Amino acid sequence: MQKSKRVIGVLISGSGSNLQALIDECSAPAFPARIGVVISNRSDAFGLVRAERAGLPKVWLDRQEFDSNEAYDGAIRDKLREHGVELVVLAGYMRLVRSPILDAYPEAVINLHPSLLPSFTGASAARDALDYGVKVTGITIHFADAEFDTGPVIIQEVVPVHQNDDEKTLLERIHKVEHRHLPYAVKLWATGRLQTHGRRVRILPKGDKSREDI
Ligand code: GAR
Repeated sequence: MQKSKRVIGVLISGSGSNLQALIDECSAPAFPARIGVVISNRSDAFGLVRAERAGLPKVWLDRQEFDSNEAYDGAIRDKLREHGVELVVLAGYMRLVRSPILDAYPEAVINLHPSLLPSFTGASAARDALDYGVKVTGITIHFADAEFDTGPVIIQEVVPVHQNDDEKTLLERIHKVEHRHLPYAVKLWATGRLQTHGRRVRILPKGDKSREDI
């Protein structure tokens, strides 16, 4: 019998290379999740083209058309619900998500950030790491909360900074690691293997609490 896949909604603002990694993994029959909708806050996000090429529902919502950030996030929540989304993945989504989304998806909004949090929060993490002169940086996948880059950490991995790196070469190295880990984090969530205790997230061993129907 065909096993049911969990439905994810991917929020983007830009190139969508991490969205592409998810599209590729989700195409495997055994992967426990599928993408229900891709939503962008920018009309020119290349990720929307990636979604279209993959035959996925895609939505651009213009913040200018809403009176407040809450109203905007309410509209995003409605789109997510319309497409049956169970897990929200922020894959290069450069806006804070607010209570309409967070309340609708408790412990089910995952963010990706190109540094080892809590270092180098914000929108230019790789540049900031280079400017600081650190020898290693990394990637963080965490549950989103009501602030930027602060929620409980799910996965981190170190990425070395090379002597001759510029922002482009460092970001390329970071992206390769992100593309490997983001689908894995989705898989862990979709198979019930993430357990949160305050700020600490345990990854349960395979088979411990896996959903029977996956
Ligand atoms: C990724 O590197 C992600 O970590 C970063 O945006 C990039 C999106 O790349 N997110 C943030 O900086 C969030 N604060 P992509 O559009 O090619 O997936």
